[in-house]
Amino acid sequence: MGIYCPTGSTIRHSSATVVHRHFTSMNTIFFTGQIIGVVSIFAVVFFVLAGLVSRLCRSHVQDGHGRAVLITGCDSGFGHQLARSLDQKGFVVFAGCLSPEGAGAQSLARQSSSNLRILQLDVTRDEDMQKAKKMVQENLPDKGLWAVVNNAGISDWAEIEWSTIEDFRNMVDINLFGSIRTTSAFLPLIREAKGRMVYMSSIFAFFNCLNMAAYSVSKRGLEAFADCLRVEMASFGVKVSIIQPGNFGQATNIVKMKTGLDIWEKLDDERKLIFNQQYIELANEYFMSTCSSGFKNSDMVIDAMLHAITSARPKRRYLLVSAADMFFFQLFPFLPTALTDAVFSLSSMYAKRKEMLYTKQERL
Ligand SMILES: NC(=O)c1ccc[n+]([C@@H]2O[C@H](COP(=O)([O-])OP(=O)(O)OC[C@H]3O[C@@H](n4cnc5c(N)ncnc54)[C@H](OP(=O)(O)O)[C@@H]3O)[C@@H](O)[C@H]2O)c1
Repeated sequence: MGIYCPTGSTIRHSSATVVHRHFTSMNTIFFTGQIIGVVSIFAVVFFVLAGLVSRLCRSHVQDGHGRAVLITGCDSGFGHQLARSLDQKGFVVFAGCLSPEGAGAQSLARQSSSNLRILQLDVTRDEDMQKAKKMVQENLPDKGLWAVVNNAGISDWAEIEWSTIEDFRNMVDINLFGSIRTTSAFLPLIREAKGRMVYMSSIFAFFNCLNMAAYSVSKRGLEAFADCLRVEMASFGVKVSIIQPGNFGQATNIVKMKTGLDIWEKLDDERKLIFNQQYIELANEYFMSTCSSGFKNSDMVIDAMLHAITSARPKRRYLLVSAADMFFFQLFPFLPTALTDAVFSLSSMYAKRKEMLYTKQERL
């Protein structure tokens, strides 16, 4: 500034000091403002996140008090074990059993609290389903029916040409139509509670190999049904999960023992000329030894079922195989069909089968 003064330099100096001080205090205000701004933004973000986390925590079903779950197929295996776990967590459990007077149902009743009720429920019978529905409706706790676990199922192994239409029908009646029947009966109650539908599928829903056609048809159909239901139910707040266990044959009663002779005797003369009895014996042994190499306990499956029922964010699919097999099974559905067929054809059983087809029956 052009202010005249004999000691101009001093004035210039003090004026510069004032300007400097002015800028310093401006900087301080600006800096403080920035800090306040940043802290406020952090505070807002923190409160939004805290709100979200607390909402998630609130929507997590910590225990089952006041909530009911219906499980099919509780006489043995996964259903039996899940019923016990949910009972311990305080859920009201409606345990559907094929044989309520049988050893499995009776031991379940003995080992559980009075909150667990055994229901006669053959999933292929409309009459059982209607009676079960009435019993559930009349005994619902205050928060209603929270989950239905479609677990009842059977398994068998046979080539397509060794099977009758009845074999296919029986498998599909229980594994697929049984679950559809259960869904139709209980979905209105689940919708009311904005609850969960859980479907027990298998890796055979997407795996194509020898001997598993009827089972694969039933489980692939079940997944198609569950996938469509998930899309339809999303707007009602109902969540749908599919459980895909690998080989847990040792951990449950799913593997029904049969001999090569049982299969052989079912074949007609024409098929007996094509499929060698020795091959059938060999295939039976191979199948039994594969089943006995699986998981020996069901904990992994039960944990997944519990997650599907109690987590705020249940998964759409739970693939339950060993860590070593996980990559292969996750990749499998995305591989070209020619490649997946080729992978199976590398198995020694496929080569033996090819060798032994049409070969003359040797005396056993
Ligand atoms: N274990 C595995 O390796 C494996 C792998 C993939 C998927 N899964 C699936 O897991 C589910 C449970 O099987 P699991 O391994 O626990 O075998 P499980 O021990 O045999 O249990 C199946 C249950 O379903 C019952 N059941 C059979 N037919 C029925 C019907 N018509 N109505 C109602 N209940 C019926 C069985 O009763 P009975 O005991 O009286 O026959 C049994 O209690 C099945 O859907 C199965 O396909 C199992």
